[in-house]
Amino acid sequence: MTQALDGVRILDFTHVQSGPTCTQLLAWFGADVIKVERAGSGDATRAQLRDIPGVDSLYFTMLNHNKRSITLDTKTAKGREVLDKLITTCDVLVENFAPGALDRMGITWEHIQALNPRMIVGSVKGFGPGPYEDCKVYENVAQCAGGAASTTGFDDGPPMVTGAQIGDSGTGLHLAIGIVAALYQRNTTVRGQKVLAPMQDAVLNLCRVKLRDQQRLERTHTLHEYPQYPDGKFGEAVPRAGNASGGGQPGAILKCLGWETDANAYIYFITQGAAWPDVCRVIGEPDWIDDEAYATPQARLLHLKPIFARIEQWTMTLTKFEAMDILNKYDIPCGPILSMKEIAEEPALRETGTIVEVDHPARGKYLTVGNPIKMSDSPTVVTRSPLLGEHTDEILAQLGYGVQAISELRSAAVI
Ligand code: COA
Repeated sequence: MTQALDGVRILDFTHVQSGPTCTQLLAWFGADVIKVERAGSGDATRAQLRDIPGVDSLYFTMLNHNKRSITLDTKTAKGREVLDKLITTCDVLVENFAPGALDRMGITWEHIQALNPRMIVGSVKGFGPGPYEDCKVYENVAQCAGGAASTTGFDDGPPMVTGAQIGDSGTGLHLAIGIVAALYQRNTTVRGQKVLAPMQDAVLNLCRVKLRDQQRLERTHTLHEYPQYPDGKFGEAVPRAGNASGGGQPGAILKCLGWETDANAYIYFITQGAAWPDVCRVIGEPDWIDDEAYATPQARLLHLKPIFARIEQWTMTLTKFEAMDILNKYDIPCGPILSMKEIAEEPALRETGTIVEVDHPARGKYLTVGNPIKMSDSPTVVTRSPLLGEHTDEILAQLGYGVQAISELRSAAVI
């Protein structure tokens, strides 16, 4: 079967996490992704957080599936020659170097345009134009500057970052969407364009509901669904909301049987308005259905703490999975707090290809997260990440280099 991006060739000049997430996704959609790396060391993540000495780390392998790797010193004249040939023959260049690095290499937009006016250039940077545009940025900086940290955590604690890599992987997804849109537009304009995904902007996009709440707060000076209501005070900025639900349906993380010894024996419980009568029946408080203190969503907002305390008395008598089974029968929205161990072992995620076991020549078998986007006409088969420079000769041959020329590049330490 064909794939959505069959025939699209990507010059992958990315490293660490944000850019590689983008190009990995494009590879899973069928693009031929050629990862350009510095000879000797390659992408720094190959050697970061290693669990097996001398073997590409899981950090690298899990972000670089389905790609080919060529080593190239792009700061030498001969290396630039190879790079120019790649620019001429590829559809998209993706990079996430520090601001200005590509220009310092001589790969300016004008240079690219002169070689290949159809080329799309996708970039991740920490910030867009403005006071911080020259800054180097990693994940947590983006989470802090994009509004996630100030709105995450508990009211009485410091700002908090989340384990979900919304700054890196989140921005990579944004960039991939921009690149696919640019490829589509190129069908009519017949020319490339620059696609920029700043990490601050991507995080802010994912924090859209908090900017919503900022404006609600300025107008009404309170946010009824936040845990600060009704007893606490609101300041000028959206506060941290703990585990309260971000929407209009109150929710909380509640203890389940075994919470004393199992850090993840919890369930997320949502008291959706439509399900309220069933919630009351399930927890053994049928009188609450008509009690005017609890009967309407508005009335319940004044009593969320005692309501969730009572529901928790019930959830603590059951494991999270037993509670799930009962609540699902009544269509009460809820979800178990799953550990990474439980997720790794979940058969349904294996069956859908979201958790995939991959074989690697140096590390053996390991688990990865496959393509989370499922397409009926473009199936994804996850293949292992390339070894450093594994496809150098193959790619150079495709660019027209003969055996002798390749050998000279190797002797000159260009590849
Ligand atoms: N041959 C020769 N030189 C190469 C090369 C190659 N194949 N590949 C990279 N280089 C050079 C670059 O040209 C650059 O040189 P310069 O500083 O002389 O211009 C150098 O390697 C390092 O690039 P840089 O991007 O500055 O790496 P870094 O490790 O210092 O910084 C980041 C890492 C992530 C902080 C930085 O790249 C960045 O801010 N990127 C944008 C935001 C981003 O994506 N952050 C999230 C990362 S998950």
